[in-house]
Amino acid sequence: MNSKIEELNERLAKAYLGGGQARIDKQHKKNKLTARERIHYLLDDNSFEETGILVTHRTTDFGMDKEKYYGDGVVTGYGTIDGRLVYVYAQDFTVFGGALSETHAEKICKVMDLAMKVGAPVIGLNDSGGARIQEGVRSLGGYADIFYRNVMASGVIPQLSAIMGPCAGGAVYSPAMTDFTMMVEGTSYMFVTGPNVVKTVTNEEVTSEELGGASTHSQKSGVAHVTSANDVQCLADLKRLLSYLPQNNKEKPVAIPYETGDEIRMQLANIIPDSTTTPYSMHNVIKGIIDEDSFFEIHKDYAENIVVGFARLGGKSIGIVANNPMFLAGVLDVDSSKKAARFTRFCDCFNIPLLVLVDVPGFLPGTDQEWNGIIMHGAKLLYALSEATVPRVTVITRKAYGGAYDVMNSKHIGADMNFAWPTAEIAVMGAKGASEIIFRKEIKEAADPEKKLAEKEKEYAEKFANPYRAAERGFIDEVILPENTRRKLMKAFSMLEGKKAKIPKKKHGNIPL
Ligand code: COA
Repeated sequence: MNSKIEELNERLAKAYLGGGQARIDKQHKKNKLTARERIHYLLDDNSFEETGILVTHRTTDFGMDKEKYYGDGVVTGYGTIDGRLVYVYAQDFTVFGGALSETHAEKICKVMDLAMKVGAPVIGLNDSGGARIQEGVRSLGGYADIFYRNVMASGVIPQLSAIMGPCAGGAVYSPAMTDFTMMVEGTSYMFVTGPNVVKTVTNEEVTSEELGGASTHSQKSGVAHVTSANDVQCLADLKRLLSYLPQNNKEKPVAIPYETGDEIRMQLANIIPDSTTTPYSMHNVIKGIIDEDSFFEIHKDYAENIVVGFARLGGKSIGIVANNPMFLAGVLDVDSSKKAARFTRFCDCFNIPLLVLVDVPGFLPGTDQEWNGIIMHGAKLLYALSEATVPRVTVITRKAYGGAYDVMNSKHIGADMNFAWPTAEIAVMGAKGASEIIFRKEIKEAADPEKKLAEKEKEYAEKFANPYRAAERGFIDEVILPENTRRKLMKAFSMLEGKKAKIPKKKHGNIPL
């Protein structure tokens, strides 16, 4: 009996060493944690239960039958985060550079299948040289098995990816299909083809970092939703993100205890500048509404003219979509529309109520936007908000002009409660532009056209640069004092908790992609 136990212990000890101490040291030298260390930081103490620790690959080509490591380059299993069940896989770069083999893929599929049966999130920690080159198509098949499961699980359980090393070629498409992709600054990169192939095909000279590092994907492409300074921070960010989400699409996010206090926030009273063209920080508006320090921003450095992220209101999770007048005056453009649409759809999948804060002068004009399909991309946001059945509440803080008024969660597309501050201007366009068009003849014929334009502008502004026309029609439910916003929103979301919205039965809609 003792020898049998010894054998087991020997095998396990080997498995815990992955590709061996020398490769572990190499990993640490690159400022990276090992797969097991990452899981240790991610999960609650002693909660990890490993699956498939003794799995090895089945390849015999290229002498591979003589090089086998327990676990085959991925640590898989389940555990808890803040007491809630999660499934996890962490690629082990010390074993064949974390490259994905048939058996490696099978291990990942196994935890994904369990997660789907039970209804709990899957977290993937990616650190891999891609397809196991020695296995050829079997490895590619393994990727596709994972992709298929990513798609089946989409909208059923939250799927989170952290990129903590290389992630290249086909490997990028699993994270891309999960709900959120986090990247570690300086040590992670993602690309479909690496710098060498880029040089051969396009003759461009580019480093891995420039091509697909964390800053590239968080600022230029939008592939990364969140970036973190190092592995430990990334795992902490993952945990925080998870705290806003439910376990699956049938559950609501967990509320944290909250005692209602004085909900008047005087810092909002004078936040809107006197001049309608002076920017102000939408982040400060958000801060003035939500529970203290509860904002978790998504896509912070991408399409900054719109702000999206999770927050808590009275302890409950909400998703926020807000125009940001600090960048491009808060216009909607291609990138901001895509960013907000995807976030909206995530919240709708997972029963997270939506708060939309509006200060939008319209869509960004120009050939660049038109030729890049602003019509189609703007339609994404319109579509995503229209089809969202979660509680939806809007606050117009200042401008709500033109088609963008409709898009930004107007009553007409199904918002449940629409508030406006007294500073709101709900109109087809700004007073100057409007006057120049509708009073063109009168202005041209006037003795002093400048003076006439100013007069007409004032007249138009008095009529339309306010929330009252919309309130008269019931398009705005209430014009509220800014300092009362938090109180009003807490009541509105609480009133909407039992909301049941019906949409026509269909296979799926056809969102303009
Ligand atoms: N298949 C099999 N083994 C792989 C591998 C792959 N795709 N990628 C890396 N490895 C192995 C290496 O042979 C090396 O093995 P060793 O420890 O026995 O020496 C180990 O993983 C570490 O790789 P190494 O190249 O030393 O690490 P690095 O940090 O210098 O570079 C990469 C990392 C990912 C840039 C580099 O390994 C690479 O380019 N890999 C191939 C990527 C690729 O083309 N994948 C297939 C397309 S999806």
